[in-house]
Amino acid sequence: MRLRVALGADHGGFSLKNELSAWLREGHEILDLGAHTLDPADDYPDYAEAVAHAVSSGRSQRGILICGSGVGACIAANKIMGVRACLCHDTYSAHQGVEHDNMNVLCLGARVVGLELAKELVTAFLNATFTSEERHQRRLDKVLAIEQQSLQGLREEREGGAE
Ligand code: RB5
Repeated sequence: MRLRVALGADHGGFSLKNELSAWLREGHEILDLGAHTLDPADDYPDYAEAVAHAVSSGRSQRGILICGSGVGACIAANKIMGVRACLCHDTYSAHQGVEHDNMNVLCLGARVVGLELAKELVTAFLNATFTSEERHQRRLDKVLAIEQQSLQGLREEREGGAE
C-alpha cells in the first residue's frame, strides 16, 4: 500500500535518513522534513516535532524519525497529541507495535542499526496495519483517555493558577 510518510533526522541520523528516503521514494510519497544539511550542532527535538505534527495533523499517515540512538527523537515525538512513537530495533516490534498499539511513528538509532536492518524495520512498520480487534481497541482507548486526562489536568492547573 502506498503511504504518505514523513521523515526526519538530526545529524546523528542524517545519512541513514537520506538513504532510506531515496529507497522509500520508489513505493511511497515521502515528506522529508530535514535535516536537509549535515549540521553537527542541530537538535533532534526540532525534527521530532516536525514529523510528529505531520502525523498528528494527518498530513502524513506515518512518520519515521532517526537520531543517534532513536531515544531522544522518540521521547520528543510522544509529546505531541495523537502520536504513538516507538523505538523498534527488532522486526517483531516494528509490525506488532502497529497491529496491536497503532504505533504511527517508528524511531531508529542510526548508531545502532545498519541500513539493511533499517530497511527491514521500515518495511515491517509500513506494511503493518492496526487490527482494530476489540481488545486492542479497548487498550488504545485507555491510552487515549490517559492523554485526554493529562491535557485536562494541565488545563485545570492553568485555570487554577490564573485565579
Ligand atoms: C546527538 O549526538 C545524539 O545525542 C542524538 O542524535 C540522539 O541520539 C539522542 O537521543
